[in-house]
This record gives sequence, C-alpha cells and structure tokens, in this order.
Amino acid sequence: MTVTLGTPLSPSATKVMLLGSGELGKEVLIALQRLGVETIAVDRYDNAPGQQVAHHARTISMSDPAQLRTLIEAERPQLVVPEIEAIATQVLEALEAEGRVRVIPTARAARLTMDREGIRRLAAETLGLPTSPYKFCDSLGELQAAIDAGIGYPCIVKPVMSSSGKGQSKIDGPADVAAAWAYAMAGGRVSHGRVIVEGFIDFDYEITQLTVRALGADGRVQTHFCDPIGHVQVGGDYVESWQPHPMTPAALERSRRIARAVTDNLGGQGLFGVELFVKGDNVWFSEVSPRPHDTGMVTMITQQQNEFELHARAILGLPVDTALRTPGASAVIYGGVDAQGIVFDGVDAALRVPNTELRLFGKPESFAKRRMGVALAHDADVEQARSRAKEAASLVRPRAVSPRPSA
Ligand SMILES: Nc1ncnc2c1ncn2[C@@H]1O[C@H](COP(=O)(O)OP(=O)(O)OP(=O)(O)O)[C@@H](O)[C@H]1O
Ligand SMILES: [Mg+2]
Repeated sequence: MTVTLGTPLSPSATKVMLLGSGELGKEVLIALQRLGVETIAVDRYDNAPGQQVAHHARTISMSDPAQLRTLIEAERPQLVVPEIEAIATQVLEALEAEGRVRVIPTARAARLTMDREGIRRLAAETLGLPTSPYKFCDSLGELQAAIDAGIGYPCIVKPVMSSSGKGQSKIDGPADVAAAWAYAMAGGRVSHGRVIVEGFIDFDYEITQLTVRALGADGRVQTHFCDPIGHVQVGGDYVESWQPHPMTPAALERSRRIARAVTDNLGGQGLFGVELFVKGDNVWFSEVSPRPHDTGMVTMITQQQNEFELHARAILGLPVDTALRTPGASAVIYGGVDAQGIVFDGVDAALRVPNTELRLFGKPESFAKRRMGVALAHDADVEQARSRAKEAASLVRPRAVSPRPSA
C-alpha cells in the first residue's frame, strides 16, 4: 500500500508513530522528516534520541497495553513502526484487526519477534530452516536435562525476552550451568523465568542480511537484498560492523534463500535484519529484526540509501535502491562512564581521521556499556575502513561533567 504524503501539522498530514526512539528510531525519524511526514516519537523515558528530532514526543510504558492503546487512539497515526521488541503487541494486533492502524511490517511479525520463542519456532519448526539445536526451559532442572539430552557442551543460554546480549552466557561444562541460569534470570526483560538453550555453532563468521520488502511499479511487494554486513559481537553486543563481507556464492545464495523464506512469512512492507551464522558453505538462521538493525548503521556511509531510508521508503510504498556505494565500516562508541549529560572530548581528532563521520546519539544518560555513538568510515577496502572507524571511535572520549557549583 502506498501512503499519500501530505503537509505535517496540517489536516493533510501523514502521521507515523515510532514505538521506541533510540539511535535506530532517530535515523528512521530523520528519513521520514525529510519526506514531510509528521512524526510522533514514543519512548519510555524523556528526551530519547528520536524524540529530539520528531514533531511530537510521548513518554509511556510501551509494554503496558492500556497506555499503548490510549496513546495510539489519541494520536491516530496511519502507521505504527515498532523500533523495539518490548511492546504490548496484543494491542497492535487488535488495532490492526480493527483496521485502525497499519503496523510495520505487520502486527504478527512484531508479536513473533518479540521473544525468542515465536521466531525460533517459526523458522525451525514451521519453515524448516537450519538453526542451532535448541530447547526452551523453565527451570534449572529443565536446563540441565536439555543439555544432557542432546544439546551438549558448549551451549548458550539466553532469556527468551532480552536483547543486546543481556542475560546471555556460554556454558562450557557442567560447572557453568547454575551460574548461567542465575545470570539469565537476572538479565531478562520480564521476570518470567524462561530461557532458550542453544547448541554452540562454531561459525567462521556471522552476517546481517538486510532484506527489504518494498512495492514495485506493479504495486506488488518485491524483495531486495543489501550486500552482506559482517560484524563482531562481544558479550552478545555488536562492537564493529562492515560491508560488504566476502562470501562464497553458495553461502550467499543460501543466506538469501533463508532471508527470503523468513521475510516472506512475516510479510508486510519494510526492512528486516536477518542474522545468520556461516561456516564454509553452510548457513544457519539465528534471528531476525523486522526493522533496521544495529549492525546496519554502517549503511549510513556505505549505501546510496541507508537502512533507515530504505525502511522509510518501503513502509510508505515508495521505490528502494539497495546498491552499495563504497566499502565501509562502523565502530561503536561506548559511554565509558555512568553519568547524566556527558560531554565528548576528542571529536575534532576523530574527524581528522580521513573518510570518517560520527553519529553522537544524544542519550541523556550514559552508562559504561551503553552505546552513545558510532564512528563510520569508508575506504577502498573493508579492512582499511575498519581500522579507520576503530581509530576514530577510540579518539572520542566521553567524560562526566562535574556538577556546576550552585551560586
Ligand atoms: N548458538 C550460538 N552459537 C554461537 N554463537 C552464538 C549463538 N547464539 C548467539 N551467539 C553469539 O551471540 C550473539 C548474540 O546472540 P543473539 O543475536 O541471539 O542475542 P541478542 O541478545 O538478540 O543480540 P542482539 O540484540 O545484539 O542481536 C550472536 O550474534 C553470536 O555472535
Ligand atoms: Mg542478535
């Protein structure tokens, strides 16, 4: 479906609501702003990055069904665009079924990817795609039994409701099991004690296959693929990514076949980040985001249309172009300190590294391990670009400001 674009803040406005307004939502909002869309940025805290660039900022608990329904009914956006997983998706399904809003890509996709169980069962059991061996467990006893019954060692335990590696740990032998269970219980998003235990895949590398479902000239959805993005994860959190990642033709073909199967099933219009593990020509599906992916921030420097512009265009029913412009890389800038309203030293030095750009997200509060910005670099080859991005990121030094003495 193509959306007619109007004039923001007037009766003809095309209104889009972002549920989640972090650094990824901020870039989607900027892309929408450039097309004259009226934007409503929702987050659980005030002054979230995306709220700083939207027409309207709203702060609610998006996992609370009543709050979410009340807000959507009051604002009446044409499109609701989830940016995070922790959303009361039953409200989105109900409003979509009532024909009140369009949810991106679909309310069902938001529900299935909200926790690890929905999407893993869809991929492995319904679609028959290759994944790591896995089992869902509700107690330490069940976890031990699942490992003993075939998952084996090493394996990985993750809360079913978590992201960015929170509560996730690797188990190398029987001595680690109880600690991994306790860590998962402390790190999950909601306190229902369910975990997935996965056999460890000894992959050569992992990629994100950005996949776009957008309307063609005939009004039908077509699937477009970006060049593969390679990345490094530390403790389940991305620290570095680059594009293109070299792959064998067979591995690339398998990756895209898997990406297409999953995204065809989830449906709707928009961009998806399909996470895949690769060893030789073998490919395993890991998970999928029905929205821009953090490792895809590299496309802000590598692609003609970055992943946020692709998402904005696709959801509005506009044509997309996934062409690569140049090889490039991204490197994460962490807060390093726990403080409010930090400042960034060394930005000038970082930007003196040739071919680089920075994004500072504007998060009001920094934590040592919170992603506060990203350095981007392009170059003739990926390895050059990686070293430039890492150098630029390392030169940016977040610093806590000592409170001003009161007058
Ligand atoms: N079964 C596995 N075998 C080997 N490595 C794994 C496995 N599962 C996860 N990992 C590693 O841990 C990383 C994070 O896992 P996963 O993507 O499932 O967690 P996440 O919390 O959703 O992370 P994010 O939100 O950053 O995508 C993966 O990118 C991969 O590097
Ligand atoms: Mg992941």
